[in-house]
Amino acid sequence: MTNKAARLSPDDLVGLAQAAWRHGERHCVDCGGYHQAWGILRAAGLHGGLGADETDLAPRLAAALSPGARVLVAGSADPGILDFVVRTAAGTPLDILVADLCATPLSVIGDLKPYPGMTVRTQQVDLAELDHLDSWDVIVSHSMLPHVPAELRIEVLKRLRRALAPRGRLVFVARTFQAAVRDSAAEEKAAWAQQTFSRVASSGIPMPASLAEIEALIHRYSVKRRAPPWDLATPEAIADLLTLGDFEVMEIVKMADRTHETAVGQARAKESYLFIAR
Ligand SMILES: C[S@@+](CC[C@H](N)C(=O)[O-])C[C@H]1O[C@@H](n2cnc3c(N)ncnc32)[C@H](O)[C@@H]1O
Repeated sequence: MTNKAARLSPDDLVGLAQAAWRHGERHCVDCGGYHQAWGILRAAGLHGGLGADETDLAPRLAAALSPGARVLVAGSADPGILDFVVRTAAGTPLDILVADLCATPLSVIGDLKPYPGMTVRTQQVDLAELDHLDSWDVIVSHSMLPHVPAELRIEVLKRLRRALAPRGRLVFVARTFQAAVRDSAAEEKAAWAQQTFSRVASSGIPMPASLAEIEALIHRYSVKRRAPPWDLATPEAIADLLTLGDFEVMEIVKMADRTHETAVGQARAKESYLFIAR
């Protein structure tokens, strides 16, 4: 029997959203439905995945990708980072492992069409418990850090450092968190859920479930959403964390500046930084 799901294309955002919805019903437990909803939000244009960061990231990542390189993707909300790595490699064969806490994005990756010449595996793992030693020539991580509880950040970074091969490179993207006025957590969560749902509902994309089910999921997830890590306000604060995690930061690049308005109408600086470390 032909397995239609096993032929998903990574740029079929509606197909990815449907797959994530289906897998998320079974797998999204600890994340509160984040990954089950993520595909819909991305297909509706509310999340860009790597988005504008790709332009600055691609040449630096390409420089680190030699034939046969072992690449760890540390944290991935959907197949987006994997697909970016493969596109950046431009035919260079790689051995890629995508690791995440939640099985939903990993199951969606399992539904993709195979990438010719690439070995792609997945591992459901808490990076704070990663036990790989000297294993990866390149570790790529995009926007994973704010999702890690503050008390576990250094442990996660130390584990990634130990997993890096002796001449390996960490290609790490993190954004800073600044707001002129901080919203109360409850007010921000409720406003975010309402705004997100109304944008999804008016997006016109084909939905994988009824609007009522999607609204319920967005509200359920909004309660679990972690408060913004206000201590990560500057690139120096993030570089200090990397140093505490035993990395040597070699380069910091300011990438897209996407200052935006929050769900409660306040301007919030949203700057992405790329850190190359070893
Ligand atoms: C914001 S998402 C990544 C977004 C990224 N721009 C993308 O397109 O995939 C962060 C991911 O890191 C994962 N994550 C957070 N903490 C983790 C941990 N301790 N171990 C493994 N994965 C983790 C989350 O499950 C989530 O999928």
